[in-house]
Parts: sequence; structure tokens; C-alpha cells
Amino acid sequence: MQRRDFLLASSAATLASCTAGLQTKSAVAQKTFPLLPVGGGLTLRARITEPASGRAGYEANGIGVNPALVFARGSTLSVTLQNDLPQPTTVHWHGLSAPSRYDGAGFDPILPGKSFHYRFQIEDRAGAYWYHPHPHHFTAEQVYHGMAGLVIVRDAEDLALERSMNTRLGQTDLPIVLQDAYYRQNIWQPYAPDTADCIDGFFGNAIHANGARNTQFYISPGWVRLRLVNASTARGLLLAFRNGEKEIPFTILGNDGGFIPTAQIEQKAFLYPAERLDIALDCRGMKPGESIAAQSLEFANRHQHEDAKPKINVHHGYKLANAYPRLSAYAWCDSRNENAAAQERPEMADDGAALPMFTLNITQSALRSGEIPAAQNRPFLSEIAQEKPPDRTFRLDLDGTRGWTIGGKKFEDADAAIRVQRGAKEIWEIHNAPISMPHPMHLHGFHFRVLSRTALFGPAKALARHENNLLSSDLGLKDTVTVWPNERVRIAIDFSTSHAGPQRYMFHCHNLEHEDAMMMLPVDVV
Ligand code: C2O
Ligand code: CU
Ligand code: CU
Repeated sequence: MQRRDFLLASSAATLASCTAGLQTKSAVAQKTFPLLPVGGGLTLRARITEPASGRAGYEANGIGVNPALVFARGSTLSVTLQNDLPQPTTVHWHGLSAPSRYDGAGFDPILPGKSFHYRFQIEDRAGAYWYHPHPHHFTAEQVYHGMAGLVIVRDAEDLALERSMNTRLGQTDLPIVLQDAYYRQNIWQPYAPDTADCIDGFFGNAIHANGARNTQFYISPGWVRLRLVNASTARGLLLAFRNGEKEIPFTILGNDGGFIPTAQIEQKAFLYPAERLDIALDCRGMKPGESIAAQSLEFANRHQHEDAKPKINVHHGYKLANAYPRLSAYAWCDSRNENAAAQERPEMADDGAALPMFTLNITQSALRSGEIPAAQNRPFLSEIAQEKPPDRTFRLDLDGTRGWTIGGKKFEDADAAIRVQRGAKEIWEIHNAPISMPHPMHLHGFHFRVLSRTALFGPAKALARHENNLLSSDLGLKDTVTVWPNERVRIAIDFSTSHAGPQRYMFHCHNLEHEDAMMMLPVDVV
């Protein structure tokens, strides 16, 4: 178990003092990653935190592992990464518009024993972004082993909402990293996908919230705000909250790129890998002793490619993947013991399985009131014409020998790069093949607006209550969009950038088994 006591950095004196009056002892023992307001520079050490299992994390200067990094909009991120892992690694600042040399995307992996300094100004709106490793072929293993944290960007708008809802970051406004985990006989298992997992994704049978199963949070009655990221390698989540038998609605305040234009009340919302949701739960009428269970509901996952058996295997298909040791000394399955490994893996839960996530416990009677402003209505997007045919169309498909492709290509293909003019306003259409599975598609460096979806089914269809079949979680600005099988999704991207010179980003699937098998394309902004 990796439960860590709630801990504030010493530089967080202000935060600590404004929460002091609200909190009792039990509330201070919040099971969350440390919260780290970042003013100056910071060193993150990528290291194995549990040698026996190979679990790993980013450790901040004696403060703790995977801190939620809190930045004011406009401030400078200045982070040194020290790589103490036995594999290449990076820190990718997912969702932040970093210049590409500091994007940590895997074009320049940091070798074991080396370090690298990331430095750029935070230009993005207030919101929940996140950081994770991105080295080719090792991303899934490192993330699954625990390397992921949130980046909270704050600005006047965010602080105004905090005042009106009367929440406090780290106390009643909780950064939560959700992650699929595989347990056998109550023991967490290291990353060990077999060939089939490299096509579908590696699915465990439990959800970690901030690094542990059954994580308990303690809150006082009033509004509670949750900043959620799905840091699973492959599992999609269908979020829902229950107080006993009663399903509790929640309010979506924001997603990948900050606040959505108008807060939306929902009973359920999808969160596929890399997506974020900033939500509020109304716990104003709740009594001490009551609790709210957060769970992922069962849904039809539409993985429909059972018959396809491509030869590509991320373990063996790429030389680099085998050039470094695994994080765990055991359980790495290879072709020699594939059958044995399959037999030894009971109780894995498919994508779409019902799983408990975490519990919010009401502990104090002191009432906090507060309101969500009726209309957030925040203008934030440069206008992009909707009525034009797509500038580019990409079909996501399974190639019988090469695995998953984007527009028939994989990262290593000589002609894979997408070339875009800086400042261009483009519409992309992503078309998922009928015999496929959901792919959460992510673009680095820019946010986009989801314009339309088609061919929705089952639980997603029921949630598509906005114009052009959009779900509430599609509104606002996104950097990752889930494309269901046989679906066409149109997105509008503004390629304006403040970073001088040519920039090289990427467009890829954030199912990390797919990513490690190079379901990615470089994006050159010239
Ligand atoms: Cu969150 Cu290219 O990644
Ligand atoms: Cu990214
Ligand atoms: Cu994919």
C-alpha cells in the first residue's frame, strides 16, 4: 500500500493557514498525493519506490511522490528531472502548451543516470493537466507502475469559483489520479502484458485512487470538487457516485482544457485514458458518518476485433524495448512463457467492468455553504468555421501484421509526419474502423474543440445530449477525445503558437499499449 499522509510543502504556508480553521485532525489525514505549490525550481527524481514490486514514481525533494503541482497561470515551470530508473524516461506535460523541446514527448529520452531541465511559461487556462513519462516502448510500464501526477493551473477565474463554492484545494478540492491496477491474492502485480494485451490493452481488476485501492477521503459537508485524471494504460471509466442505494448527480465544471462554457449536471460520465474531469458534488445536506462511493459502472466496451491476431508484439517487435531491464525483476511475460502467463492470470476485469474507485467520508458537522455560479459562460475559443470539409481525415485501423495504425501509418514510417502551418485553423476527422475498439486520441501542444460525433451506441449514446451528439464531457477545450468503433469524430484545432521556430509534437492513441506499439504520428508545425 502506498498511502501517503497529506502533506503540504513548507512554501504552502498561505494555503495551510486558510484551511486551518476548517479542518479537524481527521480531515488533515487526507489520503492524497502531496500538494506542491510551485514558485521557483523543482527537482523530480524518477525512481523505483518499492524495489520488491518495481513500483515507481516522481519524487520531489523530500516532499513525497507524484505531488500535485500547483502553478499560477503565467508563472514559469522550471523542473529538473533526474532519471534514477533503469530505463529511459521523460516527463511529458500533458495538456500544457510547452515548446516542443520541453514537451517531454519521447523524441529525446533521458537515459538512466542522466537529467534534463524543463522550462517554459504556463500559458494555459486554469485547469487540471497532468504529467507522466513518455519514452518510446516504456510508457505503459512506467505509468502503470505509478508514475503520474496532476498539474493544477490556477487563475483569477478559478479562485473566484473557489470562493463562491467555498472549497479548499487539498481539503475539499481533491486532485485524484485514477489508475487501473492488477491484484492477485491481494498483492499488486507488475506490468506483464501478453500479445493479446498489446492489441486490447492491459486490464487489471482494481482502481487505484492516488496510488492505493479503497482510498478514503475525508470531507466536511458542503461542495466538494474533484479533479480527476484517468491514468490507466487502457481502461475506460464510467464515473458515477452513490450514497447508499441513491445515485448522486454531479456537476461537470471543466475537462481537459479548463472550464467548459456552462456547468453541466450529469449522473454518469466517461473518462478514458488521459482525459480529465473537474467536477463538483453537492454534499451540503450531508451528515457526519454518511459517505459517497465513487465507482466505475459496467458498460459495453465494443472491443470487436477478436479475430484479428497481428504478429506485432510490443515486447519483441522493437529492439529498444528489450535493450533495458524491466522495472520489476519478475513477471515480465515473453513469448516463451506466454501460455504459462495466461494460465496464471486469473480475475482480470475487462474494459467496461464495474469497479469501485474510492470513498468520500463526511466527517465534520460544521456547515460550509457556497454556490456554483449559474452560468460560467466563459468565452475562450477563437472561432473556427464549422462548415468546411475536414482538412485531414484519419482512419484508425488494425493492420493484420503491423498492429494499430492511424491513417494506415505508424510512427516509424518515413512518411508518417503530419505537416501543419503555424496559425492554421484545421478540421480533422477521425474515423474509427467498424471492427475496432475505443481509441482515446491525443494531440500534443494544442487544445481542440470537438465539433461532432456520429454512430454513438449504448451508454455513450444516452449521454450524448448536446448538439451534434456531443457528451457534456466533450464540451469546452479538449486534448484527448475518445473515438468509439465505427464512429466519425470531427475536431477543430487552432495551430497558433507563441513558440518560435518549427515545433515537433505528436498525435497518438493514449491507450498506452497502442502508444508503445507506435500508434502515433509526429506533427510538425512549421
Ligand atoms: Cu499523455 Cu503523448 O501523452
Ligand atoms: Cu500529451
Ligand atoms: Cu488505441
